[in-house]
Amino acid sequence: MSRIVLGVSGGIAAYKACEVLRRLREAGHEITVVPTENALRFVGETTFSALSGRPVASDVFTDASAIPHVRLGREADLVLVVPATADLLARQAAGRADDLLTNVLLTATCPVLVCPAMHSEMWTNAATRHNVATLRERGVVVLDPASGRLAGPDSGVGRLPEPAEIVAVAQSLLDGDVATHASGRDLSGLRVVVSAGGTHEAIDPVRFIGNASSGRMGVEIARAAALRGAQVTLVAAHVDVPPPSSVDVRTVDSTADLAAAMAEAVLRADVVVMAAAPADFTPRSAASTKIKKSGDEGLSLDLVQTPDILARLTATRPQGQTIVGFAAETIADESSLAEAGIAKLVRKGADLLVVNDVSDSKVFGMPDTSVLIVDAAGVLDRVTASKAVVAHRLLDAVVRHRATAI
Ligand code: CTP
Repeated sequence: MSRIVLGVSGGIAAYKACEVLRRLREAGHEITVVPTENALRFVGETTFSALSGRPVASDVFTDASAIPHVRLGREADLVLVVPATADLLARQAAGRADDLLTNVLLTATCPVLVCPAMHSEMWTNAATRHNVATLRERGVVVLDPASGRLAGPDSGVGRLPEPAEIVAVAQSLLDGDVATHASGRDLSGLRVVVSAGGTHEAIDPVRFIGNASSGRMGVEIARAAALRGAQVTLVAAHVDVPPPSSVDVRTVDSTADLAAAMAEAVLRADVVVMAAAPADFTPRSAASTKIKKSGDEGLSLDLVQTPDILARLTATRPQGQTIVGFAAETIADESSLAEAGIAKLVRKGADLLVVNDVSDSKVFGMPDTSVLIVDAAGVLDRVTASKAVVAHRLLDAVVRHRATAI
């Protein structure tokens, strides 16, 4: 359970803060809502206090003996602002303290995540760009708004990202030391391609060969890279979790589809992460009609090996491209696991490889994992944490690798 201050400023997207609040509460967090005066024109205090199960804190002078303007920020594990209007960003960047929310933002020592939402002209205005850059320099995590329908008939950039996305980013900031990287935008200007999920190899129109991959790890890497400023393409096979709203998604079904989509997506990529679990074998040919049972006879499948996509990508990579592979092994001993990972990295020609022990189904579909990150020379990092934190540690290794390789 973490203590979160949910600031709400006065924009039409304020109603979506209710959904963010509901989801954070369901995840077990204690949330104090701090709306601005204008936010309360959009959503009433009763709604916020009913959803949070706590009184709403909206002004500096109510209950002044408890010093809410200092206490709330000091005691929070995360301050989250949904939505952040252009005016709120300006007041925050200027260091104003003219209402309770800006006081909380000035006193917070925990990670601060702000989620701007406004009309496109306001978002792209030089004043707002400057304010966002100032806040990022100071360590504030600013989630880029999405493109899509805005208030009224307009559409464009400036839309609040989906509540599920905001909650996923908020959770990653609570999980570990992620805020510095997310605010520092150290992947700005880089194109990152990430594959995720397990492929399906058709046996007939209703059956397929699949695997236990949930795609969570790849999705977290895509989210983390986008948060750090990269332009991200997620090539998603079958994934059990929604893709981040900030990335370009291409969906694929089989290993052959994945191979084709990756070959195209990586052409101009700086970093490629093969987190997908392609099937190693596929039926020689899929039946065009449903295979029927015949008496009590079994069924034999004629399987052929699929191409090794990672090995192909490393063999044909453009200069300067960093390629990361994954290996799921059933080896409990750490040094044997590292050895197997390094051998696979060398065999496939990857620069970095994330290797983990998947014995006892302790990884698939779980939010947490335990991995080694290796290069050809040895173990670079060992991490046991949420997949979001592992994603950031992997990206740290990528940044270090590129700094020494270029
Ligand atoms: N991979 C791939 N194409 C395949 C199979 C795997 O690109 N047809 C990639 C995975 O995305 C991962 C890495 O190769 O990044 C290692 O996957 P893994 O299944 O562990 O490798 P295999 O080649 O199947 O190794 P082995 O069966 O020898 O363990």
